Amino acid sequence: MEASEKPPIGVIGVGWVGLVTGACFAEVGHPVVAVDIDAGKIEALRSGAPLPIHEPGLPELVERNRERLTFTTEMDEVLAASRLLFCCVDTPPTYSGDADLSRVDAVVAALPDGAEHALVMKSTVPAGTGATIRRSHPDLVYVSCPEFLKEGSAVSDFLEPDRVVVGADPGSEWAADAVAAAYEPLGGELVRTDVASAEMIKLASNAFLATKISFINEIANVCEGVGADVNEVARGMGLDGRIGPHFLQAGIGYGGSCFPKDVSALKMLAGNTGYHFQLLNSVIEVNELQKRRVISKLTKHLGSLVGKRVALLGLAFKPNTDDMREASSLVLSARLQGEGATVVAYDPVAEGPAGAMLPSVELSVSAAGALTGADAAILVTEWPEFAELDWEELAGLMSNPLIVDGRNFLDPERLRGAGFSYEGIGRG
Ligand code: UDX
Repeated sequence: MEASEKPPIGVIGVGWVGLVTGACFAEVGHPVVAVDIDAGKIEALRSGAPLPIHEPGLPELVERNRERLTFTTEMDEVLAASRLLFCCVDTPPTYSGDADLSRVDAVVAALPDGAEHALVMKSTVPAGTGATIRRSHPDLVYVSCPEFLKEGSAVSDFLEPDRVVVGADPGSEWAADAVAAAYEPLGGELVRTDVASAEMIKLASNAFLATKISFINEIANVCEGVGADVNEVARGMGLDGRIGPHFLQAGIGYGGSCFPKDVSALKMLAGNTGYHFQLLNSVIEVNELQKRRVISKLTKHLGSLVGKRVALLGLAFKPNTDDMREASSLVLSARLQGEGATVVAYDPVAEGPAGAMLPSVELSVSAAGALTGADAAILVTEWPEFAELDWEELAGLMSNPLIVDGRNFLDPERLRGAGFSYEGIGRG
């Protein structure tokens, strides 16, 4: 089949997931019509202005596929163009920790009656959401197709998936077949299942990965007590095929728009069904405490932090993104200021979000600028450029060359050789 002959695809919600989904389906040959209620965002996408998010490879993908990508604020345009409607709106946490489904509900309310279209749910929703939607809209054709992409490597994750999960219940088979066919050229094992199981696969996967991180962070904390190096421990553990090497990087906790929200949503979902998910309580608590442990590493060297100047290197929740949602930097800067310190920060790309989310933090345009006159530095995000810094020179710029490497990213010997007092996470 010629690339241009592929069936059209509708995308609802042009956030991180929606934009990547649309651009990637266009890349493999589908005409894509993507709708969003944010007229400013749609106008910017149409005009070729810089993308609203920092995601490697995405600007090139959008440019290359302009002909196949239509951006609109009109739902009717999407409905006219495509039977498959990929729902990519966000489902942020509510105050109770449950997922806020108001945007999903608004999408469902905007759909016409009948079985002409299928709603393909990519937004992360609690297990049971598909069943609830179909109870109130019995004719709706519904497919659960959770998204597993990671920010920072979203394009390659989408185009080379480990697995593709397609959940459908009786009556929605044609749409599940169409979704499976759209993904088929991308490879990856197809998991064809029911809607509730597909919804659970997404939540359980994220909760398990978060559990791995909190587990290795607790191992790191024990390593500090016994003089072991958590990087060595993780290496030795990860070689066991049953454990695997991934997500065993100790640090100052996980963040982002998914893990904190999805772990909490799964905990609440379990609670709402009468089950107390004890393990997830600990996963969440360990993560919160891990962000704060940095403070005691500083006070060990500096005593009181009142009047001290502390530099944060990196603000984004991980490298290669400007996303600061639930980033460890938010808790850390607030705790430091609470202890009386002045906080200065540098991030290679998150300056925009940082200005809005951390108004009381001084933002610097370079690592050297942030470190000048500082009493301590904390590496919060493992941006590759931090490995290349001239640490000898930077030590000379600081009032006191102390670094807490919150991601175990730097070479302790090199830093000590450059004149730093080095503190990692669980490194003996
Ligand atoms: C995650 C899931 O990986 C993805 O499948 C899902 O679709 C969305 O949620 P993302 O939030 O983009 O993706 O980030 P990810 O790369 O998974 O990292 C999440 C957080 O965990 C980051 O703050 C990262 O620093 C932290 N992390 C990750 C660790 O602290 N240690 C690790 O070993 C791995």
